[in-house]
Amino acid sequence: MPGAFLSSLLVGLLAVGAAAQEGVPTPLNLSPYYTAYPAPISFILYLDSGEFALCAYATCVTIPGSNPPVAECGCYSFTGPNLGSATGILNKQIKDTMLSTCFGSARCTTLLSNKTEFCRRMNDRTMYPGYELVSTYNTTDWAVATGQGNPEPRVCQGGTATNCFAAACRRGTPTSRALPPGSPAFNSTCYCPYFTTSRPFIMANGSFPCGPTDPAQVVPGKTLIYNGA
Ligand SMILES: *[C@@H]1O[C@H](CO)[C@@H](O)[C@H](O)[C@H]1NC(C)=O
Ligand SMILES: *[C@@H]1O[C@H](CO)[C@@H](O)[C@H](O)[C@H]1NC(C)=O
Ligand SMILES: *[C@@H]1O[C@H](CO)[C@@H](O)[C@H](O)[C@H]1NC(C)=O
Ligand SMILES: *[C@@H]1O[C@H](CO)[C@@H](O)[C@H](O)[C@H]1NC(C)=O
Repeated sequence: MPGAFLSSLLVGLLAVGAAAQEGVPTPLNLSPYYTAYPAPISFILYLDSGEFALCAYATCVTIPGSNPPVAECGCYSFTGPNLGSATGILNKQIKDTMLSTCFGSARCTTLLSNKTEFCRRMNDRTMYPGYELVSTYNTTDWAVATGQGNPEPRVCQGGTATNCFAAACRRGTPTSRALPPGSPAFNSTCYCPYFTTSRPFIMANGSFPCGPTDPAQVVPGKTLIYNGA
């Protein structure tokens, strides 16, 4: 048991080391960045165009001792149109700006497309200094790039999942040794808040398990969890 604990701690530290940089909060403490956590899902939309990370069907491993609790997720990066939702933003100041800019009209997907505060901060890489990418959303890029199509989602009656929307990301593959060998060739890594709940939520790839409903069964650095909302 102590051995297992130590090795999961090591995996966590390795993951942390990969992104560590002068003055940059490690994934162990993203609380200065995720000032609006926890973020609910919403439909106040805006459009961007630039380089982004996509974690739609991500496979993730929790990072031991992280605050807020985050998992290291294997994602892809793309350059092109991508979509976001204002209430899901993890930085409080940008979220508040986006809510007042985008609420009650479609201007953030039309006139202000690629011109909002979120898009500016994402494209000039100042959203999370030190993390060059932000996770947003695109309906087709993952399916096209992997040739797998879009899997059917399902409703989970409780479980553990990440919500990667607006998370801080870096280029390159995840470092966790817990990801299964032969995992897809993920080319970006995101640090996504995760939740354990007894309430229903959506698992984006309905073939993935819903995850433990008891937080004690989520073994830090070991249990694989998947992206939902
Ligand atoms: C969106 O904004 C970024 C940063 O200003 C720019 O590089 C990119 O070309 C813009 N995309 C479009 C489609 O205007
Ligand atoms: C997703 O990306 C494709 C390819 O760049 C683009 O044509 C499409 O408009 C994007 N969709 C969304 C919702 O951003
Ligand atoms: C990341 O991988 C996807 C899937 O293979 C690919 O379509 C995309 O172009 C890659 N992104 C970069 C920046 O190389
Ligand atoms: C969805 O999950 C199934 C079962 O694990 C997996 O084989 C498939 O590759 C997944 N699809 C995507 C797009 O992630």
